[in-house]
Amino acid sequence: MIRNMRFSDIDEVIKIEETVFNDNWNKEAFIYELKDNPFSYYWVIDVGDKIIGYAGLWITFDSSTITNIAILPEFQRCGWGQKLMDKIIFTAISKECETISLEVRVSNHKAIALYQKNGFIKINVKKAYYRNNDEDAYYMVKPLGRI
Ligand SMILES: CC(C)(COP(=O)(O)OP(=O)(O)OC[C@H]1O[C@@H](n2cnc3c(N)ncnc32)[C@H](O)[C@@H]1OP(=O)(O)O)[C@@H](O)C(=O)NCCC(=O)NCCS
Repeated sequence: MIRNMRFSDIDEVIKIEETVFNDNWNKEAFIYELKDNPFSYYWVIDVGDKIIGYAGLWITFDSSTITNIAILPEFQRCGWGQKLMDKIIFTAISKECETISLEVRVSNHKAIALYQKNGFIKINVKKAYYRNNDEDAYYMVKPLGRI
C-alpha cells in the first residue's frame, strides 16, 4: 500500500537511502521535509511489516519536482517504482501542475528508462551536478499542461 510518509518511517527510509544511493539524505533532511517544508509530499510503500520504497515531490505553484524515488533492490523490477510514479503524476495533475521535473545521474539507466517510459524528456545536462563524484545530471521534464 502507498501511504503518506510518517516520522516513524524515517529510520527505515534512511536504510533504503543508504542501500541505493551514494550521497544519501540524512535524518534531519527528512524531518525538515515532513515537518517544515510546506511544499513537500512524501510517500512510502508499506507491505505490512516493512517499508520497501518511497518517493518525494515538491509542488510550488504550477511546477513540481521529484526529490527522490527508490525501491529496495530485492523488490525492484516488480512494478513498485511505476506505482510510485503513478502516485506522483496523479498528485501533480490533481494540484494543477504544468510540469514535473527531476535530475538524474547520466549513468542511472534504470531510472532514466522509468522516466522516459512515463513521458519525461531530457532537456539538458547539468555538468558536475553531483558533488560526491562530479557526475553530470540529465535535467528531465514531463509536460502536463494543455496546449
Ligand atoms: C529506478 C527505480 C525506482 C525503478 O523501480 P522499480 O520498482 O524497479 O521499477 P518498475 O519495476 O516499476 O519498472 C518500471 C519501469 O522502469 C524501468 N526499469 C526498471 N528497472 C529497470 C532495469 N533494471 N533496466 C531497465 N529498465 C528498468 C523500465 O522502463 C520499467 O518498465 P518495464 O518493466 O515496462 O520495462 C529502482 O531501480 C531504484 O530504486 N533504483 C535505485 C534508486 C534510484 O536510482 N532512484 C532514482 C534516482 S533519480
